[in-house]
Amino acid sequence: MTTPIPSPPTVPFLGYAASIDKEVPLNSFNLLAKQYGEIYELNMFGRKLIIISSQNLVNEVSDEKRFRKMISPWVWEVRSAIGDALFTADVPKETNWYIAHRILMPAFSTLNVHNMFDDMVDIVSQMVLKWERFGAERKVDPAVDFSALTLDAISLCAMSYRLNSFYMEGMHPFVQAMSDYLAESGRRANRLGIVTTLMRGTAAQYEENQRIMMSYVDAILEDRKANPIEKKDILSMMLEGKDKETGEGLSEDGIKRNAGLLTFLIAGHETTSGMLSFAIYYLLKNPEAMRKLREEVDTMIGQRPMTVQDVHKLPYLIAVLRETLRLAPTAPLRSITPLEDTIVGGKYAVAKDTTITCEIFMAHRDPKVWGEDADEFRPERMLDGKFEAMPNNAWQPFGYGMRGCIGRPFAWQEAQITLVLVMQRFDITLDDPSYELQIKQTLTIKPLHFYIHASPRKGAL
Ligand code: HEM
Repeated sequence: MTTPIPSPPTVPFLGYAASIDKEVPLNSFNLLAKQYGEIYELNMFGRKLIIISSQNLVNEVSDEKRFRKMISPWVWEVRSAIGDALFTADVPKETNWYIAHRILMPAFSTLNVHNMFDDMVDIVSQMVLKWERFGAERKVDPAVDFSALTLDAISLCAMSYRLNSFYMEGMHPFVQAMSDYLAESGRRANRLGIVTTLMRGTAAQYEENQRIMMSYVDAILEDRKANPIEKKDILSMMLEGKDKETGEGLSEDGIKRNAGLLTFLIAGHETTSGMLSFAIYYLLKNPEAMRKLREEVDTMIGQRPMTVQDVHKLPYLIAVLRETLRLAPTAPLRSITPLEDTIVGGKYAVAKDTTITCEIFMAHRDPKVWGEDADEFRPERMLDGKFEAMPNNAWQPFGYGMRGCIGRPFAWQEAQITLVLVMQRFDITLDDPSYELQIKQTLTIKPLHFYIHASPRKGAL
């Protein structure tokens, strides 16, 4: 006997699509999870979408013998720019993924990422200098400055190419184009195709944004061809690497969009900049956590320059990042599908190829795992072996299995350097002390209307 999956009432034709928050769909999913529980089903334009939001169910579907990654309608839209990229490929059908995965996985090993330490410090130092020069009066939008930081870092570390975002007025054109492109991709996924076709101005802007993004990727590749370098960076691995199993390399188009450059610029910077922005928000709202973090940095590193060895000596900083990604997993949704008709949760029938979206944002607040204070920011719950002892897949901000995040060591090291330098050099305050978190959602999430001031710390270098 199976049990029907709970489902909110829908209207003909549109299903539930018209009721989803257009700007922040996550808000609607959170409300529905509170109302309908750990599993519910939505009819979206006649398509069935199942959403799960408990650790128990996320753990059950994190099983590659029964489930595979499903390309959600939103990610499907993103393919118009990056095609069957590492992040967007429909595996096992699209076999390019295996080749790119095998060539690129070693590039993001912890050891290789350690070799990028100096380049990362270089970029973070540019942001620090900017904050120092502008002083405490400047109202900083952390999402903007951290996006500049993470974009420049992935570009320099992976492609030895300087985008110089900190030497520009306002947002880097790539970031603006990408952010608008991802937001419109999301809207397209929740809109009837005929309506999108009629929105000619929006469609033209969508294409223009793709053109802007591609122009940077073209420039990076052309620059490398014109000025070859000795250093073995990720771009050279893409250009020269051969897959050990097939002997095949990556095509130029594959390098530009599918496998590498555009994918890393997109996947590699918004997620990390969001994590850093949320970390600063939670630290400001929890002064005791801020005090402990600064104490750790002062004790372990003080005012000397950070070295790559320091990344293993900062347990409280790691706990802050883990707790930040628990409450604000910057990639808050991921989709999978069963390989065969199956039963989920012991009683819900799910047919092969049905989309199941894991709402990691809510699963990370599952009170059965995290207790009644699950909504509170408490890095202590990630310390002293508690992180290692938590139930399987209770913390899953980087996805799962072979389709899990390739850039995790990169993001982790970059975030550690940034927070250490910020703690060493600045006293951070909220622009508006009464600010409460609001979220902006594209493919990823970040804080909205969140502003801070960074005053150079007395006694800092
Ligand atoms: C995949 C999160 C940083 C590159 C993923 C997935 C998640 C994720 C959840 C799996 C998506 C799915 O199952 O559909 C994050 C978070 C980050 C981060 C939270 C930072 C805090 C990075 C960085 C890079 C990167 C820095 C590159 C330098 C990728 C790629 C994939 C991926 C290429 C696709 C892997 C594949 O399917 O083969 N990431 N990511 N990510 N991430 Fe990240």
